[in-house]
Amino acid sequence: MSDKFKFIEQKVLEKIKPKPEEYREVEKVFSIIKEAIESVLKKHKIEAEITLQGSIAHDTWLSGDHDLDIFVLFPKNWEIDELKTKGFNLLLEAAKNIGNYEIKYAEHPYVRVRINNFQADLVPAYKLDHPSEIKTAVDRTPFHTKYLNSKLNDYLRDQVRLLKQFMKSIGVYGAEQKTRGFSGYAVELLIIKYGSFRKLLLEAEKWKHPIFINSLESEELFKKIKHKLVKKYPESVIYMPDPVDPLRNVTAAVSLKSLATFIVISRCYLNNPSTNYFFPPEKSGHEDLISVIDNRCIVLLELTIDEELSPEVIWGELQRIGDRGAKVLRNNDFKVIHFSVYTDEKTRGYIAYELDQCYKDYPREYVGPEYWTGKRTLNFIKAHIQRQSFGPWINEQGKLVSLSQRKYSEVIKILLDRTWEYLVTPHFKNKKPIVKRITHEEINNLKNNRGLYEWIKRFILKRPHWMEYCIG
Ligand code: UTP
Ligand code: MN
Repeated sequence: MSDKFKFIEQKVLEKIKPKPEEYREVEKVFSIIKEAIESVLKKHKIEAEITLQGSIAHDTWLSGDHDLDIFVLFPKNWEIDELKTKGFNLLLEAAKNIGNYEIKYAEHPYVRVRINNFQADLVPAYKLDHPSEIKTAVDRTPFHTKYLNSKLNDYLRDQVRLLKQFMKSIGVYGAEQKTRGFSGYAVELLIIKYGSFRKLLLEAEKWKHPIFINSLESEELFKKIKHKLVKKYPESVIYMPDPVDPLRNVTAAVSLKSLATFIVISRCYLNNPSTNYFFPPEKSGHEDLISVIDNRCIVLLELTIDEELSPEVIWGELQRIGDRGAKVLRNNDFKVIHFSVYTDEKTRGYIAYELDQCYKDYPREYVGPEYWTGKRTLNFIKAHIQRQSFGPWINEQGKLVSLSQRKYSEVIKILLDRTWEYLVTPHFKNKKPIVKRITHEEINNLKNNRGLYEWIKRFILKRPHWMEYCIG
């Protein structure tokens, strides 16, 4: 039995482990960038250390992933403002000498450069001796690299790759708002903790949130900080302290959906292992969506983006709007079965809602206050006698109830009318959305936009690719 797993995992590794040629290319790119930065530093007579961080430095990167994390470590006696201006500008100057570049804003700005099919982030940070001196979020990174390289060996590095690829394929890899899943660092810590990909899955299939994972050496310290982590991250569903900075939850970004997906697929893989879990099928694009949307109520809401925003902001705001919109629909007695958001991260954001019905022309049950709520009972009676209604009456639970004409009889009208109730985020407030039902014709229009079409297709078909292999 275990041979079957080994065989599959070996096959996956053959595909995802970088080849010697790839390592040489990465080294070449790093040395080009390093030299460019060195010459700028020299010109300005500034001492700084140019370091490679992230998965390339940990040797846990996947074949084909050509993202270099280059951190330039400046003296710790610099002010934060100096780092953000002077440090950043030095990297910008180097980037201009290298090629295509782009300025990115995280907690503080950094530069992204592109050479050939490589991409490198140049991040200014502090050169520190101890994690207790950490001043910005990026200062932890060099300590992560030190920590990981003291713990990882070749076997564990391959196990990290397996887990990364697995999580990527099912859409739970990455801590950004778009995914709300596991960061590369979280994957690395999980493997160090459990010793292998499969040992982790054997644990994960039994998980129920909130989950606490002791990634620290000391049981005592873990016990001591557990409640502090919960207090600091009350929304988290999984807690795993950062060994380098234990009061930080490495898995803070993981959503319940991502966690649950990982738990269910762990059981699937152990039940019926296959390389298919690791590789999502090629997008077909030709599947017939026309017949499957008949008798369904799928509504698409479109919002325009007309300023430059970071993907974090866009995805974050859209998710909030999606959630609020679902609440508005439910408050109006419409049943939202599923919703999802999508954006091209530049010009448009979309929310798809699936409901059990798009139209309801029959009267609605309004459940009112309980008999003991005093004046509220009178208000309810007054309101519903005035409306065209049957009732109110008092039900077996002692509540006032009425069967009255509903305010809205169609979903699209609600979403067009009540925007102020769900377009609540800074960049989408006061916008006018386009709202339409997904019809045969609409499906054909969407085909022109690849990313949008793939997303809506998944939304319509619902079942994730890996679920097909769950049952042997
Ligand atoms: P990356 O997101 O590039 O991750 O962050 P990675 O480990 O290199 O993984 P892949 O292979 O590119 O996907 C680089 C470093 O930044 C810190 C970590 O130290 C990580 O190693 N980091 C990044 C975090 O601590 N948390 C985050 O959410 C993101
Ligand atoms: Mn990286």
